[in-house]
Amino acid sequence: MTSVSRFPEPQAVTAPLTEHAVFLVVTIEDGAAAADTARTAIADIGGLVRSVGFRSLHDGLTCVVGIGSDAWDRFGAPVRPAHLHPFVPIEGYRHDAPSTPGDLLFHIRSARHDMCFELERLILERLGDAVRVVDDTAGFRYFDARDLLGFVDGTENPTGDELGEAAYIDAEPDFLGGSYVITQRYTHDLAAWQRLSTEEQERVIGRTKIDDVELDDAVMPADSHVSLNTVTDDDGNELDIVRFNMAFGSYAAGEVGTYFIGYAKSPETTELMLQNMFVGNPPGNVDRILDFSTATSGCLFFVPSSATLAMLGDLPSAAGRDTTPEPPSDDTSPSDGSLSVGSLRGEYDR
Ligand code: HEM
Repeated sequence: MTSVSRFPEPQAVTAPLTEHAVFLVVTIEDGAAAADTARTAIADIGGLVRSVGFRSLHDGLTCVVGIGSDAWDRFGAPVRPAHLHPFVPIEGYRHDAPSTPGDLLFHIRSARHDMCFELERLILERLGDAVRVVDDTAGFRYFDARDLLGFVDGTENPTGDELGEAAYIDAEPDFLGGSYVITQRYTHDLAAWQRLSTEEQERVIGRTKIDDVELDDAVMPADSHVSLNTVTDDDGNELDIVRFNMAFGSYAAGEVGTYFIGYAKSPETTELMLQNMFVGNPPGNVDRILDFSTATSGCLFFVPSSATLAMLGDLPSAAGRDTTPEPPSDDTSPSDGSLSVGSLRGEYDR
């Protein structure tokens, strides 16, 4: 039985919603040297965040690092998070949720875009040719935290103690203070959306548009976004995730959208919401937001606590081990706990 005397410091998962964010996703090139470079770079990320953040402390620069399933195995840690697996694609009733490549996520937040951009520059400089950038989306706050559909986005996030309770792992002794995060980049068909009346848009979302109040049960459609994302456990307790969605867009690229990012102590809650949205609950009763929003990416990452992230830097080199990613497997079973975990539990297990 593990005794945990002190909860390890998490990464800045629950930092407040900011005016700007960058979602940087990279894949790690083949070979032990690339895996080593990536592993040691993320272990030292705190130094880079301080270098940029200290230059303007009140702009609240934070960076959360997420690690994909294949990358975790390539780093050679002696234990693995129980629920870490590649994002499971969904072939939905009318819409699909694709699974796309991603070994590392850098979720960078600040009140200023230049702070995000500068940190991104330093991270990529440090990673060098060990990685390939597969997504680099600059998110911005749209008026009073609205998405580009015009609705306030994030209102029903948990607050107070419930924020950490929803976001941070509390049931995996080796990974307390960690989190899981699912990201999806959605593009919107704004022309089609704007052809709906405001009242019809409100029935799609499940809240009023101007003043952001949840629709009354009597008029809430079963296929609204809010209905399908209000999920409970077997005892009827509501299950929460922590979202920091941002608007993004480029008229030159011809796309505007919402970058969805949802943290949770287990990805199963977010996966249940995705099932409800894409397959429907009951099946066929799918989320109407998808008639105006197309998922173009889908990734799942494990977010270690700050201590575990730093300790990854002490793992032995991948040289001599086969670091070629395994093909995706259905086996997501947790470690049986019999492996030596000393170097990853570190200080909080004393
Ligand atoms: C096109 C992408 C999306 C947009 C534009 C969007 C927008 C919104 C808006 C406007 C709300 C209502 C205000 C609020 O409580 O935040 C909301 C609620 C919510 N959304 Fe999304 N969302 C998107 C994708 C997702 C996805 C992929 C998930 C989960 C997998 C999700 C989970 C939730 C949850 C849990 C709520 C709160 C429901 C409640 O308890 O009232 N959203 N979303």
